[in-house]
Amino acid sequence: MKIPRDQHWDSTLPFMSDPYRYISRTCNELGSPLFQTRFLLAPVICMTGPEAAALFYDPQHFQRQGAAPFRLRATLFGFGGVQGLDGERHRHRKQMFLSITTGPRVQPLVERFERHLRTAILARPAIATVCLYDLFQTVLCRAATEWAGVEIPESAFPRWQRDIVAMFDQAGAVGFNHWLARVSRQNAQARMKRWIREIRAGERKVAPECAAEVIARSREPNRNLLDDRTAAVELLNVIRPIVAVSVYLTFAALALHQNPSYRSTLSDPQGRIRFAQEVRRLYPFFPALTARVRESFSWHSFEFPRGRGVLLDLYGINHDPAVWHDPMEFRPDRFGREQVTPFNFVPQGAGDAAVGHRCPGEDIATALIERTAELLAGNVRWEVPEQNLAIDYTRLPALPVSRLRVTGLHIADV
Ligand code: HEM
Repeated sequence: MKIPRDQHWDSTLPFMSDPYRYISRTCNELGSPLFQTRFLLAPVICMTGPEAAALFYDPQHFQRQGAAPFRLRATLFGFGGVQGLDGERHRHRKQMFLSITTGPRVQPLVERFERHLRTAILARPAIATVCLYDLFQTVLCRAATEWAGVEIPESAFPRWQRDIVAMFDQAGAVGFNHWLARVSRQNAQARMKRWIREIRAGERKVAPECAAEVIARSREPNRNLLDDRTAAVELLNVIRPIVAVSVYLTFAALALHQNPSYRSTLSDPQGRIRFAQEVRRLYPFFPALTARVRESFSWHSFEFPRGRGVLLDLYGINHDPAVWHDPMEFRPDRFGREQVTPFNFVPQGAGDAAVGHRCPGEDIATALIERTAELLAGNVRWEVPEQNLAIDYTRLPALPVSRLRVTGLHIADV
């Protein structure tokens, strides 16, 4: 059976003008969980829904090698990183990530984050207007860099932070800002390459089990050390996404501001978990994922030809009315009532992180959101002046137009 087509000869522009909603809207219009179109002239299949997510994560049918667009590899991911691996090499590399980002490694990062947040708040006069998105970026960048075992001289820190932020904040940009993001990746990667070499040469002492040390001594399945460039790419694959959690922290603050009745739930661990899950479900971040058909196959009698590019609609699945009640409402308590599966709650990918490409950083993202929400509902005091808090869904990542400016930011317990 032929997969239905959308109405455009090439959908690059309609997709880019509404990247979070284009796939689910078109699927709705066509009454189909999938459709075919062209992006940048190349034919692609777009899919939505939990069943499509389960298919997308079947490694027999899809591969990641060569699937991500060049412009994203040149900015967001880098070349040679875990995102483009398949099979045994992927599983082996993924174990390395999970050893860095889960279990006892999470809490020390959260503690560093909180220390730097307190310092940053105390350093500002309470009368100042502060952009929370910028503040969270700085604090996360300091915490992630130290925690990962990387030293950046204070004089070089502003440039380092700009480079790390550009890799995710400008990855979806076009023109000049896209080139800036590429230059930022090259700068940051060159710095990490030197750092890895120095650790390997014994010229740098770093804490045992920190990300830099684990990556510097990590090997391919054939026992060769990761080459310097790949090691640098993977170290950035740890630091960059931690700084990107600033997007979720900004949305967590927005959710608290717009839903003050949830403040009281944040003193309870279960209330905090549900709040963090709902922030990740409701607010936009990654719109979709890409893969490539490994060998031709059919699914529900639809033909998937070998080599075809495929997009899975993450945002649409998190807002699918067939899965979630009132999906556009902020309702943390839904996480005690509605059924959550590895394929219907997919803010950071689907399936099993240990064997597939699902994000290894969910524990870190969730722990940071929980702690930030608890602080923002507790001793950290802040007010939200008049501003445009509408979410700009045309940018990647989407953000409140104002980036959330606050006044009167201070800590009540000192
Ligand atoms: C800011 C919040 C985050 C979001 C929205 C996010 C989202 C995602 C998504 C959608 C994927 C792709 C999953 C796939 O391809 O199937 C992914 C993969 C990945 N994420 Fe995250 N992530 C976040 C935080 C983190 C953190 C904190 C880390 C590490 C400390 C991290 C490290 C990675 C890595 C290494 C991959 C590649 C995994 C693979 O290909 O196997 N992410 N993330």
